[in-house]
Amino acid sequence: MEVIGTISQSISLRTIFIVLCLEVLPCLGFTSFVFGDSLVDAGNNDYIFTLSKADSPPYGIDFKASGGRPTGRFTNGRTISDIIGQELGAKSFPPPYLAPNTQPSSILRGINYASGASGILDETGFLFIGRVPLREQVHNFEQSKSYMVNVMGETSTRQFLKKAIFSLTIGSNDVLNYVQPSIPFFGHDKVSPNMFQDFMVSNLTIQLKRLHELGARKFIVVGVGPLGCIPFIRAINLLPGGHCFGEVNDLIQGYNKKLNGVLDQLNQELGPEAIFVYANSYDIFMKIIVNYHQYGFEDANGPCCGGYFPPFVCFKGGNTSSALCDDRSKYVFWDAYHPTEAANVIIAKRLLDGDESISSPINIRQLYNYNS
Ligand SMILES: *[C@@H]1O[C@H](CO)[C@@H](O)[C@H](O)[C@H]1NC(C)=O
Ligand SMILES: *[C@@H]1O[C@H](CO)[C@@H](O)[C@H](O)[C@H]1NC(C)=O
Repeated sequence: MEVIGTISQSISLRTIFIVLCLEVLPCLGFTSFVFGDSLVDAGNNDYIFTLSKADSPPYGIDFKASGGRPTGRFTNGRTISDIIGQELGAKSFPPPYLAPNTQPSSILRGINYASGASGILDETGFLFIGRVPLREQVHNFEQSKSYMVNVMGETSTRQFLKKAIFSLTIGSNDVLNYVQPSIPFFGHDKVSPNMFQDFMVSNLTIQLKRLHELGARKFIVVGVGPLGCIPFIRAINLLPGGHCFGEVNDLIQGYNKKLNGVLDQLNQELGPEAIFVYANSYDIFMKIIVNYHQYGFEDANGPCCGGYFPPFVCFKGGNTSSALCDDRSKYVFWDAYHPTEAANVIIAKRLLDGDESISSPINIRQLYNYNS
């Protein structure tokens, strides 16, 4: 009897899934599972105890779906992954994994596991107290997958995950922690830059392989951008306007190169059933900073919100608000760390349709249409 009960229960759940799939949600549409840091966090940090939050105005001021209210995104509007999803036809954004109102059935649209202040390395971001490191984000996906297998069965889950896009936008906080002399590194002396890059790449590779074992097949791995040029790094190193901190950018370029190499290797080992796309956000962002006038910006130096000097707090309180620029579309930087939506739109469109120098071996639109 018990066995029959379980079977009929699982059949009815499967029926529910099929009905949802065929009638309510476009199952053949865009599904993405998002991993990363504050560049793509869609609100997870709102639900943990942390100093890294974007839950108050003016964050989200240009986010239409919330009517300009903060959503936990660390920018004025949409993130790069929001924009890419929309361009590929997604009707809504993957909800944050930690949001209590995230329904298990939203798995069909994908889930966002990203968390501000997190890094590839578990230690990264400890000064912010709460954050979900990459390893835990992948663990959370494992929970989602168990749910899917219960509802849909092994075969459907495998088919479903095979088509979904898995993006990882992470590594910036690891670098930021490493380059700040005031932050102790694992309580020991710092390892060499070379070894640090290797730690990042090898720890990230472990998580990529784990996701692959769990059924992920289409990957976007975003390199680290030119953090030597963000207002925070410029200010703490007292660099004059227009200058970037070369040492930080060198460290990042070394990391990106190693990362790209590992992704080539993974493509050889695990392709063509699996494909790992390297997204060269470094070059796109650098081009925007250098040629900002050509892209329609008026300021590529300071943040729109929070002023030019530490502590760079972007907020809007009763009577005391931080400085906010007049025209957010004219700024490359929203706050001392994050790009504006205007910059995100440019980056997203380049990643979608760019050539091999921007996205290799194929671009994101091709990845979306990729069938092995
Ligand atoms: C991962 O990073 C840690 C430092 O956080 C390092 O000790 C460890 O060796 C790395 N793991 C691998 C497999 O490289
Ligand atoms: C704002 O300023 C007004 C008058 O200056 C004052 O009465 C009020 O208490 C202030 N509110 C807050 C939240 O500080």
